[in-house]
Amino acid sequence: MDGVDPNQVVNADAPALIRISGVGKRYSGGTHALQGIDLTVAQGEFLSLLGPSGCGKSTLLRLIAGLGEPSEGTIDWPRASYDAGGKPERSIGFVFQEPTLMPWATVFENVYLPLRLDGARRQTVAAQVEDAIEGVGLAGFAKAYPRQLSGGMRMRVSIARALVKRPKVLLMDEPFAALDEITRMRLNDDLLRLWAGRGWTVLFVTHSVYESVYLSSRIAVMGARPGHMRELITVDAPYPRDEPFRLSASYNEYCRITSASLRGAMGGVGHQP
Ligand SMILES: Nc1ncnc2c1ncn2[C@@H]1O[C@H](COP(=O)(O)OP(=O)(O)O)[C@@H](O)[C@H]1O
Ligand SMILES: [Mg+2]
Repeated sequence: MDGVDPNQVVNADAPALIRISGVGKRYSGGTHALQGIDLTVAQGEFLSLLGPSGCGKSTLLRLIAGLGEPSEGTIDWPRASYDAGGKPERSIGFVFQEPTLMPWATVFENVYLPLRLDGARRQTVAAQVEDAIEGVGLAGFAKAYPRQLSGGMRMRVSIARALVKRPKVLLMDEPFAALDEITRMRLNDDLLRLWAGRGWTVLFVTHSVYESVYLSSRIAVMGARPGHMRELITVDAPYPRDEPFRLSASYNEYCRITSASLRGAMGGVGHQP
């Protein structure tokens, strides 16, 4: 836990949205995936979870989404109202690494799916679906099928599907890891624009130092065996961020600091992230 202040937030005025206290996770097979996780996510921040493969990033994201229970510790949503069963009413969109689209269905049908599962009729929500599709830059592609789209466009559809219910919090698990670098940079820029425009809080899992520094207001660096928090890095650079930021001395310095922290997390074996 060297140097981690779980209550340090990006903006001292921003209220705590998610409070993770002493969270541990053991899977039934015996894997000790997480231990002693303390982290407070501030409303409106862009927080990345950065760490080597297997350090429990996906596990932590799933616990935050309520897809599974921690073995110890608590995850509170201090500002959420709680339903009759004592569960917080979170407004969450989840984006996975694989776009996992239905290949036989159009872009429109894929994005409509979460609303359809809620029982919403197509005509009633058509404008909302179109709005989500336009929001990710795919206006005009509603009738296209996944096979007709590039990898980057398929990921855009997946993001549209996550945001069609207009969530307040977006949880993203290495969403751009499989994309080529130029596509990834474009999606990074579009994601930042959406985040700024819609007042989201984003939790973004990545193993890329460069991506985490470019996007984040804070980076939580994690280590493995069992997964733990090592360091919280505040990227104190203004938004909007753009190409000049990517080329700046400040960006480079943050990449250097973050890279060193990640190397520490990997046991100082000289791994190049
Ligand atoms: N459903 C599961 N059942 C058992 N073990 C799991 C499960 N999911 C993940 N693990 C194990 O927990 C550890 C953390 O995994 P994961 O959260 O996927 O890490 P990351 O996303 O950082 O790569 C790994 O050792 C992994 O094998
Ligand atoms: Mg993972």
